[in-house]
Amino acid sequence: MNRTRRVVVRGEKGQLPRYEPVLDLPPLSPEQYEALRHHVALHGVLVPILVDGDGPVRRIIDGNHRRRVADELGYDCPEVVQAGMDEAEMRTLARSLNLARRQLSQEQRRQLVADQLVETPGRSNRWVAGRLGVHHATVASVRCLLESTGQIDQCPALLGADQRLQPARKPPRAVLRTPEERRARLEATTLLHGDCRDVLPTIPSASVDAIVTDPPYPEVRREYGRMTEADWLDLMKGVVAEARRILKPTGSMVVVLQPNYESVGRMRLWLWEFLLWAAREWNLVQDVYAWATDAMPLAGTGRSQGLTRQSVKTCVWLGPPGCYRDQDRVLKTPSSRTSARRRSDLAVREGRSRKGYKEGTLAGVAAERGGTTPFNRLPISNGRQPGGHGDHPSRTAYDLAAWWCRYLVPEGGVLLDPFAGSGVVLQAGLDEGAGQVIGIDKWAGYLDIARGRIVDE
Ligand SMILES: C[S@@+](CC[C@H](N)C(=O)[O-])C[C@H]1O[C@@H](n2cnc3c(N)ncnc32)[C@H](O)[C@@H]1O
Repeated sequence: MNRTRRVVVRGEKGQLPRYEPVLDLPPLSPEQYEALRHHVALHGVLVPILVDGDGPVRRIIDGNHRRRVADELGYDCPEVVQAGMDEAEMRTLARSLNLARRQLSQEQRRQLVADQLVETPGRSNRWVAGRLGVHHATVASVRCLLESTGQIDQCPALLGADQRLQPARKPPRAVLRTPEERRARLEATTLLHGDCRDVLPTIPSASVDAIVTDPPYPEVRREYGRMTEADWLDLMKGVVAEARRILKPTGSMVVVLQPNYESVGRMRLWLWEFLLWAAREWNLVQDVYAWATDAMPLAGTGRSQGLTRQSVKTCVWLGPPGCYRDQDRVLKTPSSRTSARRRSDLAVREGRSRKGYKEGTLAGVAAERGGTTPFNRLPISNGRQPGGHGDHPSRTAYDLAAWWCRYLVPEGGVLLDPFAGSGVVLQAGLDEGAGQVIGIDKWAGYLDIARGRIVDE
């Protein structure tokens, strides 16, 4: 049924109506706006704008810029009414029309998809793709990013276009392991159900080589609860005290944290309060950051708010200054510039920091070690993480977990994660040569996912 009809611009009593956009969509570039203005000045508004009614206040579903240009030029702007839609339907239609017609950058297109997913997270990727006129794989990849950054919850089932619930994910592609390998991985794994404050005291002193963990964050709504900042600090202080007892003398602990806002433009300070407390109480070995190279421009980054993308997690690395670490296992792949250096070139040059260096020495060290010194910023792309057992709302990026396990867990060593969730850290630990991994979580369901991940992925 066609629900559109053309309307006259003036209201019944001849007053001009007021117009409001249904959505704040990406603005036109100055060149695009000028081109539209020029076109309208020559030909008038040829394509009617789409509004929700013909009353004194009209919502523009499509055509904000045409309406503005017509106003500026004092021209009439034809309208078509699309009646009978609710707010959500109008927003979806506005997005799809913009995606279909406008020259949007890749990032702007993904942002429109992200906005739709935030609004309808329980709808299947194909449903969202159909409404917006984009490929379902694009929706899947944006969903993956939003879930991994906690912008939307993971739904175990999604509502398709046929109004049927479908499982959110296909079963993971199984890694081919022999029954012996699967048994060995399970035997090397201890999963303990309970609050880690109760479980940690049952683990013997000086028995663990490294702790790598991605705990819950305060003031974030999750299916496993929401904590105040004070409760969170209390929890973490207890965990750190136990960690020091449980770790071997050369062991260390990494806590992966991402700060959040109280409101746009006002950060919460729990991360730095914890960091300062732990560094003074114990010792901060080094500041290390994980950088999500593909973080989306989400909360607070709109033009009117103007913040930068949140893309950095702080890895709070605690332990004695001389704690165990193996730099050889985390060397950086040499850059093409380093690889291009000739080992025979021993002329002394001045670097950017004004210190002298020899190209040949740099090339020689990289070739002999198999890589160059790693940076304290780990670039990790969230969108390309392996693993399909994804029914956890805040799964840790596998590559990040694997990097720390390679660096801190000696071959055959013992790894502990007191907030194990769906077990990505434990899986990475076993993949990187840990002899034993121990995971604790308050939710038994997550530990079941962890068990599956450890044997199948
Ligand atoms: C950020 S998630 C961990 C994600 C995990 N690394 C993964 O990849 O699935 C934090 C986990 O801590 C668990 N948790 C929260 N409070 C806890 C507590 N007091 N003791 C043990 N686990 C807790 C939650 O159930 C959640 O699974």
